[in-house]
Amino acid sequence: MSVQAEVLRSIEPAVDALATEILRNVEDDANWQPTDLVPDPTTDEGIAGIQTLKSEAAELSDQLVLVTAGNLITEEALPSYQTAFNRHIGLNDLTGVDETPWARWSRAWTAEEKRHGSVMGLWARFSGRINMRAIESTIQHLISNGFDVKTDNDPYEVLVFTSFQEQATLVSHKNVAKQAGQAGDTHLQKICDLVGTDEARHARFYKTAGRLVFRADPDGALVALANMMKKKISMPAQRMYDGSNSNLFTDFSEIAQQIGIYTSEKYVEIMELCNQYWNVEQLVPQSDAGRKAQDFVASLPDRYRKLAARKKPKDVPLSRFTWLATP
Ligand SMILES: [Fe+2]
Ligand SMILES: [Fe+2]
Repeated sequence: MSVQAEVLRSIEPAVDALATEILRNVEDDANWQPTDLVPDPTTDEGIAGIQTLKSEAAELSDQLVLVTAGNLITEEALPSYQTAFNRHIGLNDLTGVDETPWARWSRAWTAEEKRHGSVMGLWARFSGRINMRAIESTIQHLISNGFDVKTDNDPYEVLVFTSFQEQATLVSHKNVAKQAGQAGDTHLQKICDLVGTDEARHARFYKTAGRLVFRADPDGALVALANMMKKKISMPAQRMYDGSNSNLFTDFSEIAQQIGIYTSEKYVEIMELCNQYWNVEQLVPQSDAGRKAQDFVASLPDRYRKLAARKKPKDVPLSRFTWLATP
């Protein structure tokens, strides 16, 4: 058995307890379903509620609607993310019904994530602001185009990736919730707030599992973190395409940056947060590779902060997007 597989096996009891603590039972009162968050079109009250939802959404800026649409598309490519996670030996679900804590987590995590795209899709449909067919085509393209998590199937690296990624989605959804609330859209605010809270729980799982790995195998974990940072955390929706704009992901990211939903500065903050969470600077690596990796990751936030400060906003005409409903 490789060192990594041994480490992952050795922390299974702690991961099992962590998964049980973080996951919610489907029947738990605090557990929500997409249907709970939008009006019910089978009742008169619900029909009136849809009208309210629509009039609230009318107040949102086109930019905020576009970022919400991009986030919805990102969430809907969930099959690619479960597939990516399951490609990593030591974490994977070999039968589809494995009882290892990693397999149990990956299925329950996917089941929680599934609600995100669903609820955002319901909101988008009722909001009247979104060209749903363009969104659906983009999702179909994105899942077909695939997603390269760039971990070379290394299980430590994927734990670094998921820690970063869940933290990034947490920031993005919570910022949409905040801005939607400021614009008076209570439906989108509540939806993105609850989705963001899910992402926060998921981030806590991956960061804590990561901490167990850093404690059990500091050198291996430092090298994995440094590798991921060199390759850069790939964005899950990088390969999105709507049939016309070959720069779609860059354009979407630029809008998210410009209105402050997800920025380069946030990426640096996530780097710092993970470094602190994993006590990267206090570890005492035993190998040259471990020491080199430690120096590299400790120096990165400052370097990235300088780069982020130099970043100039680009002009992105909204006409490039097919996602907005024509008024
Ligand atoms: Fe999500
Ligand atoms: Fe997530």
